[in-house]
Amino acid sequence: MADNSGTATADTASEHTEDGVRRRDFINIAAVSAAGVGGLAVVYPLVSQMAPSADVLAESTTEVDVAGIEPGQSIKAIFRKQPLFVKRLTAAEIADANSVPLSDLREPQTLAERTSEGNEDILITMGVCTHLGCVPLGAAEGENKGEYGGYFCPCHGSHYDTAGRIRKGPAPTNLEVPEYTFTSETTVVVG
Ligand code: FES
Repeated sequence: MADNSGTATADTASEHTEDGVRRRDFINIAAVSAAGVGGLAVVYPLVSQMAPSADVLAESTTEVDVAGIEPGQSIKAIFRKQPLFVKRLTAAEIADANSVPLSDLREPQTLAERTSEGNEDILITMGVCTHLGCVPLGAAEGENKGEYGGYFCPCHGSHYDTAGRIRKGPAPTNLEVPEYTFTSETTVVVG
């Protein structure tokens, strides 16, 4: 009797804390909490690896000031590590682009579709030939603009017109127009 009672008393003392929570329960709760923290520690790096880094975010857009670009002039910028052409078209270049029947085009697109509404004189394209990726000529002063007055890729002879559309040569598509937004009358954010 005395032994049984003593054993029972010892077990009770070892399993209860002052606030009445059984010690074994506390150990279980502590283990679960540790597992929970461990789980978070594992998940967090995965989430942080999936989120773009600050470097990538900074590189993902390019701001261009078009105020200083005279009609007929282009500037070269860099967008996501690739050349970007920003050109202010002359009235004649706009008229030229608009006079081409869409049926003549390998990839039919109007100038309006390739520019921003209200800013049809600003043509923004990647400076990357859609054939094999050379940088076409025509953006810098004095460079060969090809047979259609836009850009010319000398690598294999692709000619682009004043709207950057492929007109002759092996390139399959028009020069790519990236996403961009005018954030003021003279500032464009590409990307
Ligand atoms: S890369 Fe431009 S024509 Fe081939």
